[in-house]
Amino acid sequence: MLVEVEKLVKKPFSLVLAYPRPDEAVLRDRIRQLKELGISHVEFCGRKSIGKLNVLGKGHVGVVLAAKTESGLKVALKIRRVDADRENLGHEAEMLKLANSVGVGPKLLAHTGDVIVMEFIEGQHLPEWLSTGPDKDHVVEVLRELFEKCWKLDQIGLDHGELSRAHSHVLVEPRGPSAFEPRLVDFESASTRRRPSNFTSICQYVFIGGLSGLVARIMSLPDREDLIRALRAYKAQMGREELDRVLEACGLIKHI
Ligand SMILES: Nc1ncnc2c1ncn2[C@@H]1O[C@H](COP(=O)(O)OP(=O)(O)O)[C@@H](O)[C@H]1O
Ligand SMILES: [Mg+2]
Repeated sequence: MLVEVEKLVKKPFSLVLAYPRPDEAVLRDRIRQLKELGISHVEFCGRKSIGKLNVLGKGHVGVVLAAKTESGLKVALKIRRVDADRENLGHEAEMLKLANSVGVGPKLLAHTGDVIVMEFIEGQHLPEWLSTGPDKDHVVEVLRELFEKCWKLDQIGLDHGELSRAHSHVLVEPRGPSAFEPRLVDFESASTRRRPSNFTSICQYVFIGGLSGLVARIMSLPDREDLIRALRAYKAQMGREELDRVLEACGLIKHI
């Protein structure tokens, strides 16, 4: 359902715009911000719901929505919850911009204090995509590219922070008729002040933790001890060579 930005001041839409306590002044201010950002419509779709309205996501800091710009581009919005423990979305925008500098994350298009406008990513969450029975070759490609992206974030010292339970933070986007690209989302908990553990977190999640059962139906899992040894070496150096040793242990690249 596509709704004009001006109409968001009314129920039931107001609850999404200023979740969980819509207030007239806040609503007007947010509509002003959306217009300033060039947003003309919001689209209520997605797997989560607020009341009877569908949204893409609802976390502790924001609500994620699909939207349309005045020029007709489909985008994703993150709108700050009024009860969020962050005063504005500046931190997330800054982290996303940094991730974008190495080709990771939805492209940051614009932001204000309460709204981030970013590239809309089509696609399923990684566990859901794996459940659709994709070709092993595609799975190998997606995992290798996902790991490379996490390595790039490690390289620039940006820790995503939520990749050990990555079920909702990796989307698999179709790219052409027979290829897929893994896309990382949600840089709200990201930081440049922690030691980055993107690659080790995602690798453990995929091959040892929560996703390993699904992955085992498609490809053989690496020997646990070998993998842990390779990950330990990676942790110490974080270099390309250590990365490749892990990829090799996981069967994602041929012998090096
Ligand atoms: N740029 C985007 N394009 C499409 N869907 C997105 C985008 N960003 C987030 N989502 C969807 O919204 C969900 C929640 O987003 P996220 O940033 O994790 O917010 P939160 O954790 O605060 O709810 C994601 O799991 C994903 O399904
Ligand atoms: Mg999230």
